Amino acid sequence: MDRNPQPGKAAVQGRGVIARYGAFLPVTAATPVVSLGEGNTPLIFSPRLSAAVGRGCEVFVKCEGLNPSGSFKDRGMTVAVSKALARGAQALICASTGNTSASAAAYAARAGMRCAVVLPAGKIASGKMVQAFIYGARIVAIDGNFDQALEIVRALGARDDFAIVNSINPDRIAGQKTAAFEIVDELGDAPDLHLLPVGNAGNITAYWAGYQEYCAAGKATRHPRMIGFQAAGAAPIYRGEVVTKPETVATAIRIGNPASWAQATRAIEESRGLIDIVTDEEILDAQRWLASAEGIFVEPASAAPIAGLLRAGAAGHASCFSASSIPDGSRIVCTVTGHGLKDPEVVSAAIPPPQPVSPNESAVWRALENGRS
Ligand code: F0G
Repeated sequence: MDRNPQPGKAAVQGRGVIARYGAFLPVTAATPVVSLGEGNTPLIFSPRLSAAVGRGCEVFVKCEGLNPSGSFKDRGMTVAVSKALARGAQALICASTGNTSASAAAYAARAGMRCAVVLPAGKIASGKMVQAFIYGARIVAIDGNFDQALEIVRALGARDDFAIVNSINPDRIAGQKTAAFEIVDELGDAPDLHLLPVGNAGNITAYWAGYQEYCAAGKATRHPRMIGFQAAGAAPIYRGEVVTKPETVATAIRIGNPASWAQATRAIEESRGLIDIVTDEEILDAQRWLASAEGIFVEPASAAPIAGLLRAGAAGHASCFSASSIPDGSRIVCTVTGHGLKDPEVVSAAIPPPQPVSPNESAVWRALENGRS
């Protein structure tokens, strides 16, 4: 692989992760780059989250919902689709809980390729469904869950000219490593702890590969402990067994048999990290807390690591990831993987029905005063 030095800032601004980190990716100068300007997402210092953890810890939130299709999937999709195009593939296919399909559909549109997505019926957040549709994907819903959809996609990929763009495609994992690179580039070194949600387990695998690679390249002096969170009703890695009927409000991580299970286990072991669970109630509380306390609106799955961190910060809880897992003064990064607007229903249900008042200043003032009491 060509290990060119990183190009200058002006040459890569807004051109995506291949332009910025091509030297670390499985591409050559001849690869046709399909990019929507993904990556370079904000790493936001979060004062209230830091205070909730206490003991001089600093917490940063890596906002992956600000990628072009609203989730971290775009980092891997640019590489997978560019490589598929280079090989002459005509069509992409994926199984998805919603974000992979949104991203695949967007990058297929950009590349002028066809895209088919296989989804668990009734379990895809509405914003993600809208995305697959508007980008022009062919959508097939199955009466089954994500794990079954992925099995079907593996079979279809083997028998046709489809390029599979799930994270079983190593180009996806390669692209997703770039989030770890960005974090190290911005903080000057790796954080002490890295927290993220785990579903099909591709992303934890990718971050770990990224941190290791940056260490090997001399760009980081250490690596973080990788801390993954699954939803309590969809926690195969935590429980050590396949979950045949996964259930959680966080539909993005409603997965019972992760494809990258072994790699995730290795990442956790090698980094001396751990895997823990959070309940749906903790997820929804953390989602609302992050929005109202820090101004960051994420989808439910993305709130899982925040829920785990808040629980660990509130002393005394006997969970796997607890205050004792967090040394004083730790630098902590939480990846929030997808934008809150993708799944409006989960929040809309909690909004009280509006009661209109007269369209004048005093009526509105009175309503505000009432709201305050
Ligand atoms: N967060 C969000 C918002 C996701 O969409 C996903 C996975 C994850 C976390 C978990 O990441 O699978 O790499 O462990 N979504 C996939 C999809 C499964 O089809 O969109 P993972």
